[in-house]
Amino acid sequence: MQTTLEKTLASELQELHDTGQYKQANELQRPQAPRTRMDGKDIVMLSSNNYLGLANHPKVLEAARNAIEKYGMGTASVRFICGTMTCHLELEQKIREFIGCEASTTFISCWDANVGLIPTLAPTKEDAIFTDALNHASIIDAIRLSKAQRFIYKHQNLDELEQMLKSATARNRLIITDGVFSMEGDVAQLPRLKELANAHDAVLIVDESHATGVLGATGKGTAEHFGVIDPNTIQTSTLGKALGGSCGGYVAASQVVCDYLVQKSRPQLFSNALPPAVCYGSMAAIDVLMSEPERLEKLRANTKHFRAGVSELGLKTIEGITPIVPVIVGETPTAIQMQKALLEENVFVSGFGFPVVPRGAARLRCQISAGHETEDLDLALAALKKVADKFPESRAT
Ligand SMILES: Cc1ncc(COP(=O)(O)O)c(C=O)c1O
Repeated sequence: MQTTLEKTLASELQELHDTGQYKQANELQRPQAPRTRMDGKDIVMLSSNNYLGLANHPKVLEAARNAIEKYGMGTASVRFICGTMTCHLELEQKIREFIGCEASTTFISCWDANVGLIPTLAPTKEDAIFTDALNHASIIDAIRLSKAQRFIYKHQNLDELEQMLKSATARNRLIITDGVFSMEGDVAQLPRLKELANAHDAVLIVDESHATGVLGATGKGTAEHFGVIDPNTIQTSTLGKALGGSCGGYVAASQVVCDYLVQKSRPQLFSNALPPAVCYGSMAAIDVLMSEPERLEKLRANTKHFRAGVSELGLKTIEGITPIVPVIVGETPTAIQMQKALLEENVFVSGFGFPVVPRGAARLRCQISAGHETEDLDLALAALKKVADKFPESRAT
């Protein structure tokens, strides 16, 4: 017999089914790669965050295997009790070398890094948080954990942000933005954000999850892209996308900020540290990025090729430079149906609808990797054309 709770949940799930919004997880049957196998089909993967194609790189796998031999599966402890292993210190050192920051501290995910950082730096109602309306869900939830005053400015509307900064009276003031917005693929206007932070005694926090290993001459992210690297800007980022694709997150900041997090941040204090295989695999991924700059060039060439193809097909997209290329299709059921139709054509692209994106702006989020060959992208474009012919609402023209 179902409990009242189970009946409520079942009825909500049924509603998702009835309105065509139920998300079905497809089964990936081989490693994450630009060409892989899903639901019994060989497919082109066009929806992973494997931007540099390192999720299955031999050097990354070898480092992870060796780490298991040397340090075992896990820490069986949080950091401050007996969970700080050599691998954590080495990984944090590697992140410092890569980003060029004073200090870094790692978390089990970037979700945890955001949740561990934001309420810790702005815990009280004397503090204020200024946040872009389209920031990632982990930032939204992190802000919910803080008692600080909240100011949500419209996406990339920095005039509105300026007005809010002028009007707010507060002790610790945080401006928080994604570096690359995960659903739009656009880039935060970091130079102006930094100017506003300086002018209003605020600290800028940039979530670089989709920018690390993607933007900037050497893949350091948004600040490198704009040439505004600044030791006072705090970065969060993930090891689960371009840097090997497993899991893990970090905060890169000044020594005092990281020291404070180690003492006070709840996910640091009460959740296990990263597994050794993840630490060493991620370090190997950073080494590959630093020693093979041609991967970044390939990612950029692939992105340009694909974006040009999407424009030629007349699909509704958001122009930009990043490997996140949304195709806006309107309603959630359309996005889900188009995802299914594309899989029939042996291409996997994930469809996103409300509440991940605003109502009426459901989309297919195409993501490009350095691991794609031109023929993979052309195959995907041909499939998009075929499917868009059946769903004209995805066309701008
Ligand atoms: C902008 C942004 N921040 C944080 C995260 C969470 O990263 P992780 O998977 O490491 O928790 C994501 C993941 O999708 C993201 O896109």
